[in-house]
Amino acid sequence: MERRTIGSAALAVGAVGLGCMPMSWAYSTSQQRGDRSLRTVHAALDAGVQLLDTADMYGPFTNELLVGRAVKGRRSEAFLSTKCGLLVGDQHIVANGRPGYVRRACDASLRRLQTDVIDLYQLHRADPEVPVEETWGAMADLVTAGKVRALGLSAVGARAGRRPGARMHDGTIRQLERVQQVFPVSAVQAELSVWSPEALEDLLPWCAARGVGILAAMPLGNGYLTGTLKPGQGFEPDDPRARHPRFTAEMMAANQPVVAGLRRIAEQHGATPAQVALAWVLRQGRHVVPVPGTKREQWAVENAGAAAVALTDGDLAEIDGLPRARGSWY
Ligand SMILES: NC(=O)c1ccc[n+]([C@@H]2O[C@H](COP(=O)([O-])OP(=O)(O)OC[C@H]3O[C@@H](n4cnc5c(N)ncnc54)[C@H](OP(=O)(O)O)[C@@H]3O)[C@@H](O)[C@H]2O)c1
Repeated sequence: MERRTIGSAALAVGAVGLGCMPMSWAYSTSQQRGDRSLRTVHAALDAGVQLLDTADMYGPFTNELLVGRAVKGRRSEAFLSTKCGLLVGDQHIVANGRPGYVRRACDASLRRLQTDVIDLYQLHRADPEVPVEETWGAMADLVTAGKVRALGLSAVGARAGRRPGARMHDGTIRQLERVQQVFPVSAVQAELSVWSPEALEDLLPWCAARGVGILAAMPLGNGYLTGTLKPGQGFEPDDPRARHPRFTAEMMAANQPVVAGLRRIAEQHGATPAQVALAWVLRQGRHVVPVPGTKREQWAVENAGAAAVALTDGDLAEIDGLPRARGSWY
């Protein structure tokens, strides 16, 4: 698989990563099985995937434990990308960016991942109660201590709470400029997909100009862009898509032209719509690494295969010309 470099720390990884979140968090819990997930991670590594994205809050904690088991004996083949800064409570998820907490969280992640170094340590969300420079300073100390190789910022929730008229990532970019004064940012994790392309406007150019990598989260539109979900099929009650405005029967039907467009191009390449959706993300810049999430071996291998799908400029223009997705996202 083609390799890409993440940020100033010059860390090289396979161009397609693996999002491990669906193995133990979000989506329906009835489908989450550890044995199958271990096989999925191994199949992804066999297919040339290196970057495994997890977080201490997924589970909570069980996703890191699973990834730790999966890479035992194969640590040198994997690039471990995890996150701190969000705590799962009984009712709410709360941010904690206090330096002491960050230090404890890192040690706990190292134990769960069964490793002595985390390749990319990301701040999941900034804590509004703590200046982000303080949190970032504590994370930088972890690099100095050799516990972490590089730092990243997660900006997936940037859409929430945005001021009217502001661009999607204005707040993220302000945050990035602040933390860059303390220690270099190697990567930003942000949503990027055919039906959520907003990061192209501001965040991608900002990162490209500064040698900062992008981990493209939700590159398959939570599964919709793969064409395997049918309008009105319904979701299990603990799957957040059951309450998601873009996953109502009406919106899933309204957005079918997007899937039809991906399918048309996929047929020309002997590929699948999922692979075309990922190949589109890969074409947005050599600093971009998509992290498609799956718990299934077959889909992990299929997604890794997207690195070999060479979209033409005509394909890109066709995808960019597809109707804008309908239905609000958050
Ligand atoms: N930083 C953040 O705040 C944040 C937020 C969201 C996500 N993320 C990261 O981004 C990763 C990806 O996001 P995501 O998992 O929510 O969304 P996604 O990658 O857009 O889509 C995942 C969904 O697509 C399905 N799928 C995957 N490959 C498929 C294929 N080839 N054919 C058909 N269906 C396929 C999966 O099904 P199965 O699960 O049944 O396999 C899952 O339901 C996460 O794992 C996580 O690492 C980060």
